[in-house]
Amino acid sequence: MHIRILGSAAGGGFPQWNCNCHNCAGVRNGSLRAQRRTQSSIALSDNGVDWILCNASPDIRAQFESFPLLQPARQVRDTAIAGVILLDSQIDHCTGLLSLREGCPHKVWCTEMVHQDLSSGFPLFNMLSHWNGGLQWQPIGLEGEPFSIPGCNHLRLRAIPLRSSAPPYSPHRGNPQPGDNIGLFIEDRRSGASLFYAPGLGQVDDQLLEWMQRADCLLVDGTLWRDDEMCVCEVGDKLGSEMGHLPQSGPGGMLEVLEGFPEQRKILIHINNTNPILDEDSTERALLERRGIEVAYDGLDIFL
Ligand code: MLT
Ligand code: MN
Ligand code: ZN
Repeated sequence: MHIRILGSAAGGGFPQWNCNCHNCAGVRNGSLRAQRRTQSSIALSDNGVDWILCNASPDIRAQFESFPLLQPARQVRDTAIAGVILLDSQIDHCTGLLSLREGCPHKVWCTEMVHQDLSSGFPLFNMLSHWNGGLQWQPIGLEGEPFSIPGCNHLRLRAIPLRSSAPPYSPHRGNPQPGDNIGLFIEDRRSGASLFYAPGLGQVDDQLLEWMQRADCLLVDGTLWRDDEMCVCEVGDKLGSEMGHLPQSGPGGMLEVLEGFPEQRKILIHINNTNPILDEDSTERALLERRGIEVAYDGLDIFL
């Protein structure tokens, strides 16, 4: 399977339009060795022609422009997107659907909880029903049952429910439900190779660790280095743990979790603009390198 990183930053992107933190200011004025990044999304294919879009970011137009394989090639109006999967109902993962309206109908796989949010607090399904059949909901179950997407039949997908909270506009914001946030376990039936993808991962449990153990490549939450990073950088008062993101450093952090997977390829994605790992000369980045952990960048191709 071919995995294309379309966007590797967390909500806001890098640099973020209104941010003057050390990283955002440094990448703008050239004092920091770092790459700009768009908001997180990946595309998957088993044949290089038909693609599954995992999350639809507000930067989707630029992401499609930078990846010729997603561009129309067959008829006057055309798309290579066979289906869209949403891993949650957050703005940075869903807003791109509005920019895909000219190509409706689209088949959209998501959980019952995400479909509810996107039919109420952030009613994308309702709005887009006015465009040629709109978004056609394909429910994702939470019991680990495999599903596939027509056009990419060699890929077997499974949703892994993750503990996290629903976005601020969700009617059940204060009452987390299974299916608010999922990871994906994706297996290529031909090679048997597999990817675990979870751009928002707040807590690990034994069941999750088992899925991670089975995967050849782990593409996981790289939002924050420290839990209190937003406070330390004076850009906000929320903790990573409150937002459903496990920080890399500290006891029980992502670095410790990834130590348990010496054989797998390990890549961080959904990186917040405050995170010191964006600075290619930082000590934090050097530490990742010593541990064999990569930092995803826009345009990275992974073949499994
Ligand atoms: C998150 O990942 O926590 C959200 O996307 C934050 C946001 O963009 O509002
Ligand atoms: Mn996000
Ligand atoms: Zn910033």
